[in-house]
Amino acid sequence: MSLVLSALVVVVFIVLPLACLPRQIPLQGLGIPPDFESLTLDWNLETTPDPNWSGHLIFDTVSSLLLHWSNTRYRNGHNIVPGSVPIGTLLYHGRGDNAIPTFPGWTSTNPEHSFTFCADSTSKDGSTAGCWQLTFVVTRPLRVLYFDGASGAKMENGPMDAQDLLLWGGVDPARRMDERERLNALCALGKDFGIDGYARMEMDFEVMLCDFSNGVELLSADYLAAWMAGPAREPLILGTIVSASWNSRHPGETRVHLDLTKLISFYDTSLAPSLIPEREGKERWDHRVLGISAPDLAVVKTRLQDVLASGTNMGSGVDWKTLFRVVVDRYADRLETLDHLLATTTTDNLPERAPIIQTELRLMLTPYILYTARPHWLSSTSNSASYVYGGNEAWALPVWRACATRHTAHIHRNSGVQSRLTSSERLLLGALDGTNREICRVLVRMWVAGVHAGVDTLLPREADPSASTPVLSPTLDQWRTHAHSLISWLDWSAWVKCRPMCPAEEMCYLPTWPYFGVNEWDRKDERWKRPQPRCIRKFRPYSVL
Ligand SMILES: *[C@@H]1O[C@H](CO)[C@@H](O)[C@H](O)[C@H]1NC(C)=O
Repeated sequence: MSLVLSALVVVVFIVLPLACLPRQIPLQGLGIPPDFESLTLDWNLETTPDPNWSGHLIFDTVSSLLLHWSNTRYRNGHNIVPGSVPIGTLLYHGRGDNAIPTFPGWTSTNPEHSFTFCADSTSKDGSTAGCWQLTFVVTRPLRVLYFDGASGAKMENGPMDAQDLLLWGGVDPARRMDERERLNALCALGKDFGIDGYARMEMDFEVMLCDFSNGVELLSADYLAAWMAGPAREPLILGTIVSASWNSRHPGETRVHLDLTKLISFYDTSLAPSLIPEREGKERWDHRVLGISAPDLAVVKTRLQDVLASGTNMGSGVDWKTLFRVVVDRYADRLETLDHLLATTTTDNLPERAPIIQTELRLMLTPYILYTARPHWLSSTSNSASYVYGGNEAWALPVWRACATRHTAHIHRNSGVQSRLTSSERLLLGALDGTNREICRVLVRMWVAGVHAGVDTLLPREADPSASTPVLSPTLDQWRTHAHSLISWLDWSAWVKCRPMCPAEEMCYLPTWPYFGVNEWDRKDERWKRPQPRCIRKFRPYSVL
């Protein structure tokens, strides 16, 4: 080990803990502005989130941008995000001849997707020997605009709302398939801002290009062996589904790079307050952008023009994608484990399970559990009179505050960073803070419940010779209530999995347009309305999609 590394180890593992251990640094001393630390925030552990607050939905949709899985589950997109497609990216275009399109057209990021459009327009009876696929390469960063959700799925009830409202001011089910006009209108909208194309998602990701002679170069025009007729259709479809699954989960479709400093969200309640009553009482599947008021839509359009007209390298420099990712990474697996432990705990195994669950809770909160945060019966300070055994959670407030504020404290306290935040970044900051704060609130309450129940190994129960064996079932009930409400409130798609896991010859699948069967999506079938994961076979005999 090098000297530098050894010195670092000494500082990090020996000096720092010793320096931090004996005293609790007051939060004010850390320089966190009072408005963030205490004044405007309600630090009452019992206060649940405002039901109209949509920050957790912003948090989840932003964490899900360009992930095929999440946007297949919730098809009705709520975000519009400018971005770019980098130099060297291959884009595929299946067509009836080898001509480069002279007007706006569609390309896909995976050739499996474009191959389904591969054709030979000279073939009269359709029984073609071959078909045309053009491969383009990006020669300068393309400016694109991304619509999240399954924004390329020509379905009723929401996936195309954002586009159609922006372009046509309304959503007309009869124009669902008007893709040529939609794309031409999109290109007209973005022309003044130098937008080269639009990124959307359906069975897979696509980049619609406004001008094939600008920013892309034909790499190859190939007359490929066509095999889409008859029984060959099924492997082709599965091939497309499998290739889309490569971009299912984090990091998703990395061939599109998004600029989150310019993100526009229809879940932004300051931008689209008219959608708050529209969402009331509805499940998330049924949230739509349709229903936005005309004045709110006008504000969104102005905001879009503003972000498109603004220069590059705007904003604070904060890596929002990673910051959001850190929170999801830190809690997604652990909350899932916690949920499993709670679900498999019975009256019989409760005495041995309770300390295990408490250990999981403590693990999640370890970076924030100050040595001095302890209930009155373990505290040497004399303010114990205000604490009632089993009831008051106030001693744990410093843990909640540290947990809730640590990830973004530097943004709040640094006026330079503050002043550079774009309005989109302020939205992201609020969504991150509010979501993280609620996770921490619930976890701290659960952990405190375990401490009070006497199952925490580091903070044992008050010694009371007359006390009988603790009754743990009320604690288990509390834990379950808290965990379930948190998990359903967060509603992360990372938890949507095939259970049990699919065997090797199968893959986990969420119903995806257009494989529902002809017009089947119009039948309001619950399976398509509320997509649930299931295992499908990767080869013959194929499963029904
Ligand atoms: C939530 O929004 C609805 C509709 O705008 C409003 O009537 C209601 O009072 C709000 N609820 C809260 C708790 O603010």
